[in-house]
Amino acid sequence: MCGIVGVLGNHEVAPTLVEALKRLEYRGYDSAGIATVNDGQLDRRRAVGKLVNLSDLLVHEPLAGKSGIGHTRWATHGAPTTINAHPHQAGPVAVVHNGIIENFRELRTELAAHGLTPSSETDTETVAMLTQHHMSEGLSPVEAAGKTIDRLNGAFALVFLFEGQDNLMIAARRGSPLAIGHGDGEMYVGSDAIALAPLTDRITYLDEGDRAVITRTSVEIRDAKGRLANRAIKQIQMDAARIDKAGYKHFMAKEIAEQPTVLADALRGYLDGDSIILPGEPLDFTKIERMTMVACGTAFYACLTAKYWFEQLAGLPVEVDVASEFRYREPPITANTVALFVSQSGETADTLAALRYCREKADRIVSVVNVAESSIARESDLALPIHAGVEVGVASTKAFTCQLNVLLLLALKAAADRGRLSPEALSDTLASLRALPGILNVALDRGGVIRKAARRIAESRDVLFLGRGLMYPLALEGALKLKEISYIHAEAYASGELKHGPIALIDKSVPVVVMAPRDTLFDKTVSNMQEVMARGGKVLLITDAAGAAEAGQDVWQTVILPEVPPVLSPLLYAIPAQLLAYHTAVAKGTDVDQPRNLAKSVTVE
Ligand code: G6P
Repeated sequence: MCGIVGVLGNHEVAPTLVEALKRLEYRGYDSAGIATVNDGQLDRRRAVGKLVNLSDLLVHEPLAGKSGIGHTRWATHGAPTTINAHPHQAGPVAVVHNGIIENFRELRTELAAHGLTPSSETDTETVAMLTQHHMSEGLSPVEAAGKTIDRLNGAFALVFLFEGQDNLMIAARRGSPLAIGHGDGEMYVGSDAIALAPLTDRITYLDEGDRAVITRTSVEIRDAKGRLANRAIKQIQMDAARIDKAGYKHFMAKEIAEQPTVLADALRGYLDGDSIILPGEPLDFTKIERMTMVACGTAFYACLTAKYWFEQLAGLPVEVDVASEFRYREPPITANTVALFVSQSGETADTLAALRYCREKADRIVSVVNVAESSIARESDLALPIHAGVEVGVASTKAFTCQLNVLLLLALKAAADRGRLSPEALSDTLASLRALPGILNVALDRGGVIRKAARRIAESRDVLFLGRGLMYPLALEGALKLKEISYIHAEAYASGELKHGPIALIDKSVPVVVMAPRDTLFDKTVSNMQEVMARGGKVLLITDAAGAAEAGQDVWQTVILPEVPPVLSPLLYAIPAQLLAYHTAVAKGTDVDQPRNLAKSVTVE
């Protein structure tokens, strides 16, 4: 979603701002802009669409100045137009903003009474206008921004820049993250450390409610109660913030291909011989009676997969819900419940709100995250890193398999602790898991066959995905991936549900992707597959050699994967699902890494 950057520099700042915004492109956006202070004057340039449009504009209408702020906008209030793009300016104040100001209408009405009218449809402009109003009453920039922030409801990360103030930025965080970067006589602000990585590796993360007054040589941070706060400067791993395609055509292709490596690394982080080692205070699974898992999007499907694992392996009842439903449902949380939240970014607004709902109710708040400094990680009792590395493609791939990995390890630990898995069986499963990265490489080699099928699928209007048991959440994830990046309508059903409706859709124009390793449910899935084929449906069967020998004869295409113990199949079958979506999107020529309308980190509800 929206990205923020701010620089108090020692040389012309516009190129640095645009470069930093490029590093935030992955979050998803539909317009961009920068503002600078030059000779005391505020000026700005904004453009709709990709950053290249802003760069082109800057070639024709350069923007001078050594201090500035920049923004990539993902439209919420008002269409993606130049007028709605940030930075917003009102008189001597320019503002960039992530999040939503919920009371902006009420503030607008107040401002109208003072003769101030907005020029955009955005909530953000109200922040600039209110600050302008306070300054016109004689307040200093710091006082005016402070008084404005006090009036705001909702979630936000804000950075202010002022006319006549070449050495001042004000930053505030409530609900959306902000990081301050410390340079050599320069100072930076970014909505994440990735934006600032080429500029500095010394980062201060603002806490919830913090406000910072920043000059080139100083940062003064106050907490939500207005007390001076001492926030640590952390040295971040530059490697961790590296963003390049490493020769791949798309970040998504690179991230799919990286899975064997990141999975092997992630396993090393959690295994010591035959013991599963969790960071922090141990979870006592013998005392836990229930788990509640909450997430959005792909992370939700990781939770759905985990439900099968926890219930089958550990006999632990699991409730799973999407965060946007869970948070307003007021679900009762019974005694001895662990609430578990899965989020790649760790910033998803609905997931964070669901976590806060569980705060005083659940026994323990556990999160499975990719960004260790994220809000969800920080607000959890136990944050389990997935070690996927930076994921840039909007459609989640390696984060999904790494989420599955951590959830499986947790389920195995629960099963062992609860006496439902013998040490020998645990040791065997862990040995298979250690061998899995090599097997994922074999699955990646099936790219050719999948690319061929994808060319045909790219011509379809609708695609159906079917799976049973552990393959059901995988079918859902496969359909989500396909629709996200190829814009083809795709739906997934539990195979057993086929007859209860979706079979009406089947004809020869509808490809049906059936995910079915030769496990105990295989015969039942194959029966459903026959029902599809009897109605002319074109089946793409993803299975193993035994499955293909048994049922692969009359299908349209078969993708044969290596055999793995059934419990590990979700991690393996994720690969062809991802490759199918990727090659279909490439065949259609869509924007694979930044699909239309989508954002990587969804920080508004
Ligand atoms: C967005 C992304 C998805 C992601 C979902 C949840 O919709 O496009 O790829 O699965 O958010 O994000 P999270 O960061 O909480 O895992």
